[in-house]
Amino acid sequence: MSMLEQTRETMRRDRVFDWMMPSADFSQRLDTSHGPILYVEDVTVSFDGFRALDELTLYVDDGELRCIIGPNGAGKTTMMDVITGRTRPEQGRVWFGQRIDLLRLDETEIASGGIGRKFQKPTVFQNHSVLENLELAMAADKRVWPTLLARLSGEQRGRIEEALETIGLTAEAYQAAGQLSHGQKQWLEIGMLLMQNPRLLLVDEPVAGMTHQEMDRTAELLTGLAGKHSVVVVEHDMEFVRSIARQVTVLHQGSVLAEGTMDQVQNDPKVVEVYLGE
Ligand SMILES: Nc1ncnc2c1ncn2[C@@H]1O[C@H](COP(=O)(O)OP(=O)(O)OP(=O)(O)O)[C@@H](O)[C@H]1O
Ligand SMILES: [Mg+2]
Repeated sequence: MSMLEQTRETMRRDRVFDWMMPSADFSQRLDTSHGPILYVEDVTVSFDGFRALDELTLYVDDGELRCIIGPNGAGKTTMMDVITGRTRPEQGRVWFGQRIDLLRLDETEIASGGIGRKFQKPTVFQNHSVLENLELAMAADKRVWPTLLARLSGEQRGRIEEALETIGLTAEAYQAAGQLSHGQKQWLEIGMLLMQNPRLLLVDEPVAGMTHQEMDRTAELLTGLAGKHSVVVVEHDMEFVRSIARQVTVLHQGSVLAEGTMDQVQNDPKVVEVYLGE
């Protein structure tokens, strides 16, 4: 029996109806008391017969910072697509904690329910200030923007100030986002994700195109988020991965090739072979 099945067996005994009902405010129901915040089990995704994910199984613990590496085409982005409801697997289970079945929710529900995703290309509102970008992000519902902008509560202000500090853009708060450096835009986008209080953050190739200094700052930012949030980072830059990683998962041909510390996976002959063969 898989870990998820075992856990759900217990849940089933304890709360028979509770776990079966998908609910709109499912983030309230997030239960990570058994450890993992994310269960991906036996997930297969095919594109015209080609298996982009091939019975992929991995678990991410609550509060963990996990790095996912692997050669081009290994299935890393497809995995994120599955977790966020963008791609439906033909097989497998994907659960958020042990009570929320992500395969029964759509992309919007998943995003508003506590899983934030950062795509590679920053999508900030160029003509708005950094501060306004964070304000806009706080309201997932665009219809409440005008009222929100008119009067922010003290609590909302506090959260924005906290986010500005976290992403290191306090001094740039009133600058137009379009004038930020590439790295700063990436941080702003992470800040915008934070405004929606995600419990799990998925970040695809955060340091592509960054300077060394920006990479160091990004490393600090992401490691600082772990604990309060769970963070899954996909990244090709090995030096960067080494600087932040505790636990690394290596994907290859749609499944897990190796898992462990950076030293463990880098010395794994299977991993060496895959990377040399590139
Ligand atoms: N929508 C799609 N239609 C057809 N094939 C796809 C689609 N999306 C992904 N693939 C294929 O699935 C495989 C896995 O792609 P994926 O983007 O997940 O890899 P990746 O690990 O993110 O790679 P990279 O490091 O280059 O970003 C690739 O062979 C890719 O060509
Ligand atoms: Mg990718």
